[in-house]
Amino acid sequence: MGLNRRRGLLVLGFAAAMWGGFASVAQIAKTSPAKTFPWSDASLSPDVRADLVIKEMTLDEKISLLHGQGMPMGGQTGTRSNGGAGYTVAIPRLGIPSIQMADSAYGVTRGAAMGRYSTALPNNLGAASSWDTAMMRTYGELIGTELRDEGYNMTLGGGVNLAREPRDGRTFEYMGEDPLLAGTLDGNVEVGVQSQHIIGDVKHYAINDQESGRMAVNANIDQRAMRETDLRAFEIALRISHAGAVMCSYNRVNGVYACQNSYLLSDVLKGAFGFKGFVLSDWGGTHSTVRASHAGLDQEQPGDYFYGDALKKAVEDGRISQAELNEHVHRVLRSMFAAGLFDDPGKMQVPDVEHGYATAQHIAEESIVLLRNEHHILPLTGVRRIAVIGGHADVGVLSGGGSAQVNPPGGSPVPPQPGKGIFAAFIHEEWMPDSPLRALREALPETAISFTSGDDVAAAKTAASQADVAIVFVYQWESEGLDLPTLNLAPEQDKLVESVAAANPRTIVVLETGSPATMPWVDKVQGIVEAWYPGIRGGEALAEILTGKVNPSGKLAITFPKSDADLPHPKLVTPPPSSEPHFPAKGKRPANFMKVLASGLPAFQTYYSEGLKVGYKWYDAENKPVLFPFGFGLSYTTFAYSDLHVTAGTAPTVNFTLKNTGERAGTEIAEVYAALPAAAQEPPKRLVGWARVVLQPGQAKQISIPVDRDRLTIFDVAHKDWELAPGSYTILVGSSSRDLPLTQSLTLP
Ligand code: BGC
Repeated sequence: MGLNRRRGLLVLGFAAAMWGGFASVAQIAKTSPAKTFPWSDASLSPDVRADLVIKEMTLDEKISLLHGQGMPMGGQTGTRSNGGAGYTVAIPRLGIPSIQMADSAYGVTRGAAMGRYSTALPNNLGAASSWDTAMMRTYGELIGTELRDEGYNMTLGGGVNLAREPRDGRTFEYMGEDPLLAGTLDGNVEVGVQSQHIIGDVKHYAINDQESGRMAVNANIDQRAMRETDLRAFEIALRISHAGAVMCSYNRVNGVYACQNSYLLSDVLKGAFGFKGFVLSDWGGTHSTVRASHAGLDQEQPGDYFYGDALKKAVEDGRISQAELNEHVHRVLRSMFAAGLFDDPGKMQVPDVEHGYATAQHIAEESIVLLRNEHHILPLTGVRRIAVIGGHADVGVLSGGGSAQVNPPGGSPVPPQPGKGIFAAFIHEEWMPDSPLRALREALPETAISFTSGDDVAAAKTAASQADVAIVFVYQWESEGLDLPTLNLAPEQDKLVESVAAANPRTIVVLETGSPATMPWVDKVQGIVEAWYPGIRGGEALAEILTGKVNPSGKLAITFPKSDADLPHPKLVTPPPSSEPHFPAKGKRPANFMKVLASGLPAFQTYYSEGLKVGYKWYDAENKPVLFPFGFGLSYTTFAYSDLHVTAGTAPTVNFTLKNTGERAGTEIAEVYAALPAAAQEPPKRLVGWARVVLQPGQAKQISIPVDRDRLTIFDVAHKDWELAPGSYTILVGSSSRDLPLTQSLTLP
């Protein structure tokens, strides 16, 4: 029986793990360290080494590198799986190790069934609010280290899809709405991951911008918009990181599944971007053998429905050439060599929990964004009584769900709520056991701090009225497989805030969300803090910010609109029921599930007619006021911008003075935007650079930000190339996309 049929009942992705549960951890295949091969010579290039191996491989061995072995689920456990989402077999005869892959967007996932610990870092959009490239490397290094400690050698993280649709249930896993910011930050995460000898991955390629009907949706978008927005983020991330893998997405793009889309895979990714690694399909995202292979898909995951026996047959009867087969194998082996899998296979050990905690807290402190601070209600000083209300702040902080879910150590402290959407049987809200209430009490031992759950609004009002300050925690849970129907918080949460604010005007709201939220009460509260899903030390980080031990420095990587009505698509595009897969109830085997997925679900359409106008570019172009703009975030000190001077040339340098005009030290993220000449037909402005600047009170610094030519170019579809539109450019500098006090025009040749 072919592997494809034996594994024919596999459910894709994380759903399988939830459904079937894991068998015990099997041994990762190791090869004899004593034996050396011609390709063991680490001084040779990864390309040369890969070709040396290929010369010795049989057809079956080659094919075995081009597909997964199924998910390690009850009754179907691959004997050499390490318990991650997928793996390829080792070939001991040739010293080829297996590739053990684990999801690891904000930490290594699925450890619970094997009793493993992983650090839950702040979620990706949260960390992106730091705009801190060095810290994003640290983020990746920690993930890479823990992957290695847990016996993996490839990440399935690296989500960089732009927040074209902010209600996308995976917005928390991505890096916001700007291609330069998202691509740069994600590229640095992958550099960090790969520094630990782990194959990096960037996903989900491409235009996988909503979860509703993600396996069926056909994203309609024009080429220029695609290249300048979503694909630009991938291009930048890959240029920085040289990540070894790219995961193609479930959806169709302009009529063709992403994993068999030759424009996306061959023309752009492997052609224009010069990507040298391998393309693997999202879990169940392969839909053909010959067509996908020709288009540039190198590896099917998690099974071998198309890239097992079917691929072998296609090679044997000449529909796929040896050269094409070897090209796929070369790419896989090359990435393995480049990441160091042959030379430094790693060793399993207990992750350094203390280091993980310290790193998670530091990142959370840089991720938290102070959105409102009327009457200097923050930081909390000299406050005698505080009422903490709602949001399970007594026990934990929220985390994002789906394949990115990091298991809370000791389990979620909040009892599971009923699941929602297509993954209702498998995925529930999970909270990290790290209480902001406890952290606040420890940070303010002299202050009386009460807690009220918020379930009883009258009790919350009473608590608030008896305190000097009320802090209300609200949240919005987000997960893969499930979009938010609206950016509004649940009505009872808005009501709780309104009621508490009415009882005590000195109210601060702390949000734990993975996307922007609307705030009908914005003017009625004095403080607003966006904490995102702040990870395993989120409570402590929040306490440091609220008490002023840490001065907030985060800035939004995504716009907070006033309402859904202001979005490019006021209503989320939802699929007909026939375009959603139907997962079986827990423990039940679905009939012909893989076959249904493989043959594809009926398409439905999204039209991304906003095109280039993603995020702030949309609100700017449409002249829409927003709740909080892209790039916005307050500090406990103030900064002044002056003396702009932009040098001429096609790659100008932007020079200005930044001064801390307040009374405490702080970090300012200074932002540079460019407005392109009218002839370019671009949205009003785009981010072209930034700097994180640490300043003591009263200190001023001269800042110089080089703007590479390619930050100013536009994509010319006819010439398939980037060009610089001639004419007058305006450089704008300031503290957010809507607060840009310095401007200078320049004419580029
Ligand atoms: C998700 C991927 C994930 C894969 C493996 C899929 O459902 O879309 O992001 O890496 O499962 O868990």
